[in-house]
Amino acid sequence: MEESYSKIFEGNRKWVDDMNEQDPAFFAKLAKGQKPPLLWIGCSDSRVPANEITGTLPGEVFVHRNIANMVVHTDMSMLSVLDYAVNILEVKHVIVCGHYGCGGVLAAMGNTQVGLIDNWLRHIKDVYRIHQAELDAIPDAIERGRRLVELNVIEQVYDLCKTSIIQNAWTKTKRPYVHGVVYDLNNGLLVDLNCTVRDNSEMADIYVFDDGAVV
Ligand code: CO
Repeated sequence: MEESYSKIFEGNRKWVDDMNEQDPAFFAKLAKGQKPPLLWIGCSDSRVPANEITGTLPGEVFVHRNIANMVVHTDMSMLSVLDYAVNILEVKHVIVCGHYGCGGVLAAMGNTQVGLIDNWLRHIKDVYRIHQAELDAIPDAIERGRRLVELNVIEQVYDLCKTSIIQNAWTKTKRPYVHGVVYDLNNGLLVDLNCTVRDNSEMADIYVFDDGAVV
């Protein structure tokens, strides 16, 4: 078998041995079910794996990943993950994680057609347009790209908060907290963007559903 494929099974056997050595009941406990306190919405980029960079184990983070960690309101996969995580798993925190050097964000800053993905990246161009004055004022292209990564995360946090799923959960249960973080590929560090939202109080009126909305 081709090596990059066959080695996942070797890696898996070693990992199973390591986990059993650390905790002989590890797999038996996980097999009973999951109750993760965190939902992670991150980029598909192979360099940003949710568990590894947060030092968490299987069972601790419910994960959704797509190109450029987007919250697109017609994305049934994202909405299904969000609904299940918030209403069934009852997560306490939803985290949007972007990363500097994100290929999706960098592609969205350009004008080259890439293909089908252009339709997905257009949502990032919308973020650029909303923050165009700030971004255009940054002369260095790398710095401008880093800021767009951050602004994109912040807008995806707000996009989560615009969903009936999050707003109904706030009304009924006072959770979840919705956070935006950014990961730096250069040093491995995760930084909080200080954009945590936990209620409707600062949301523009047009997005706020009345209490007692259909649930
Ligand atoms: Co990325």
